[in-house]
Amino acid sequence: MSEPLNAALGVGGLIIDHIGIVVPDLGAAIAFYRNAMGCTIGATVLLEEHDIEVSFVEFANARIELIAPLGRRSPPRSLLGAHTSGDFLARSPQGGLHHVCYLVPDLSAALTRLARLGVMPLGSGRPEIGASGKPIIFLDPATTGGTLVELKQAG
Ligand code: CO
Repeated sequence: MSEPLNAALGVGGLIIDHIGIVVPDLGAAIAFYRNAMGCTIGATVLLEEHDIEVSFVEFANARIELIAPLGRRSPPRSLLGAHTSGDFLARSPQGGLHHVCYLVPDLSAALTRLARLGVMPLGSGRPEIGASGKPIIFLDPATTGGTLVELKQAG
């Protein structure tokens, strides 16, 4: 169980599911990816419990998750601690790269393995249902080399 996550997954290893980008204006970001980049954009999903709205941009090898905070005064912090998209925009009003999401076949096994290697989840440590309807969890950037990492249950 002290084997790193990628080796433990065997052939193929970790897959990048999506890259999360926080944007101050979801409509403007969608217009850029649709009209200038020519990408297909999924439906906008409102996640009131996470105080965000989200759209996924499709690429040949991955997706980009565009995240815009709804701007509620007291967004929930169980999943992301002080790393919500609202916190991000308060520091960086133009938006920018927020997180990288990796797909894992067994989220709880991955968390157990990572904890033994000193990599810890943010917030409560309990997975929640994310924008694509699958359990997700975020890892504390203090234990990942500085980048916010999302793990998503595959399948
Ligand atoms: Co994400």
